Formats: sequence, C-alpha cells, structure tokens
Amino acid sequence: MQVLHEIFGKDWEASYTSQMQSEATRAIEDGKIVLLPQLTFALSSEEEIFFSTEFSHPKFKNISFNPQTGLVRGAKCDVVHQAALKNMMARYAKNASQLMSSLFPHYRNTIKIGRTSFRPIEIYGRIPKSYRKDDTRLHVDAFPMSPTQGKRIFRVFTNVNPYGKERIWRVGEPFADVAKQFLPRVKKPWPGRAAILSALRLTKSYCTDYDYAMLQIHNLMKRDLAYQKSATQEEVRFLPNTSWIVQTDSVSHAAMSGQFVFEQTFYLPVESMAYPHLSPLRILEKLAGRNLA
Ligand code: SIN
Ligand code: FE
Repeated sequence: MQVLHEIFGKDWEASYTSQMQSEATRAIEDGKIVLLPQLTFALSSEEEIFFSTEFSHPKFKNISFNPQTGLVRGAKCDVVHQAALKNMMARYAKNASQLMSSLFPHYRNTIKIGRTSFRPIEIYGRIPKSYRKDDTRLHVDAFPMSPTQGKRIFRVFTNVNPYGKERIWRVGEPFADVAKQFLPRVKKPWPGRAAILSALRLTKSYCTDYDYAMLQIHNLMKRDLAYQKSATQEEVRFLPNTSWIVQTDSVSHAAMSGQFVFEQTFYLPVESMAYPHLSPLRILEKLAGRNLA
C-alpha cells in the first residue's frame, strides 16, 4: 500500500482546492499519512534555546501544552523560559488548527483540539519504563487514562530538527489486518471495571468496550516481538522542515529515531468522518458483531 499522500502547502495559512481537500480526506481516513514536504514551523532566534534537552523534566517524555487551559507540563525551567515555551507551543497549536481547518473544512464544527507537544528527547536509545511505553514498537495509539469512546485521534507533526536529522518511523499493516489478528486475543473487561475506573478518576472519561479493546490491542501488539518483526511494514523517513498528519489510532506506527518534533492532537467524532466505516470503532464492531461504544 502507498503510505504517503503528499500535499504541497508552503505555509500554515495556505488554502486548498476542494479536490485537494477531498483527496486528502479520502487518504487520511483510508489510513494514509498526509505529508506536507514544504511545511515547517519556524522558531524565532530567542526560541532556538529550546533545541536542547535541558528544559525537559526527567520524569516526562515530552513537554506538553493544553491550549484550553494554557498550562505547560513536563518542563523544568524558570518563569521566563516557561512563558516563552508556552508562547511557542500556543503558536504551533494555532498553526496546526489552521491547517486542519483549511484542509478538512467539513471537520471544522465537530473537531476538538487536544494537547500540543514538543519532543526534544532523542528517541533512539531512550529506555522506556515498560514495553507498553515503548513507542519504537509498532502500535496503534490508545491511552489508559484518556478513553476516546471511539473518537478519532488526528495528529499533526512537524520535524524541526536543526541538525538535518530525519524522524524515522516504521509504518505497519492497515487497521483491518491489525484488528483481525489481535481482536480474537482481546479479553472481555470484568463487570463494573469502567464504572470503578471513572469513579476513582483513573480515567478522564468513561472507558467503553471500544477503549478497552483498543488498549489491549495496543499492548498486545507491543508485547508480541514475533509480530514486531514479521508484520508487513515499511520505513518512512520524515525530513527536517516537513510536516505530516496521521490518524494514530488506526495507522500502526513505531518511532525509531529523531529529535525535536512538534505535535498537535485533535479528536473527531466517528460520525463526522466522510467514510465512518473505515474507523477503528466500526471495523472492530463489525468483527465483534456487536456495539462497542
Ligand atoms: C508515537 O506516537 O508513537 C510517537 C511518534 C513520534 O514522536 O514521532
Ligand atoms: Fe504512538
């Protein structure tokens, strides 16, 4: 399968023809990565100080920003640098929102913005706390504390590496094939699990059967070393000063190396998709023969 769908947009305010919009929609919903090879995110000369790991809190993988509250997490710095980080990340959030809105105008009314992240740590050689946190293994995104209840996870990335370093991913098989392999191994949640997790605030929202299945698929994929080797996959190298958009809940991916990337997350209800039957929710429901939402 062709993994990349290229779009030529030079800046975040670029406008796209309706043909480009519908081709991009078809491509992204079909599990391709929309690559914008000419689109970068420029740091001001004062911001170049952030091309360093010294502002990262050792306990966090990334520096994150919540565009809704304005809060920055995962940084270790004084108030001046904290404000500069916030400014820079808010600008990335704004740019990424603009791009999503001009490329996918029909998502505009229902798409919700999530966290912004800045990833200054080199991926290669990083030691994860457990295999579940090891993003160098093929996986689809699903997070224990943040159930999406079926909503799609869209992520915009920009490689801003100033030393010419690519971000190298492996991209695995289509979600329908992942689901066929792993859904049969997914166990049923124990009765009352979701209610207890949300009562104890261990999840930010109610964990549906879909979320439980996705989390197990994420873990089963990462745990299965034979699968990691034998699954159909290809290497994708993202050059510095390029951006890409991907639905990380359906595109099997592994980040192998690279340093200094920005990322913005968005959530989209399945009903807002042009081809909802391509969503992980509908694919899993079809295989399971029941409603999972
Ligand atoms: C991931 O989503 O697994 C990591 C992607 C990246 O940081 O390149
Ligand atoms: Fe991931």
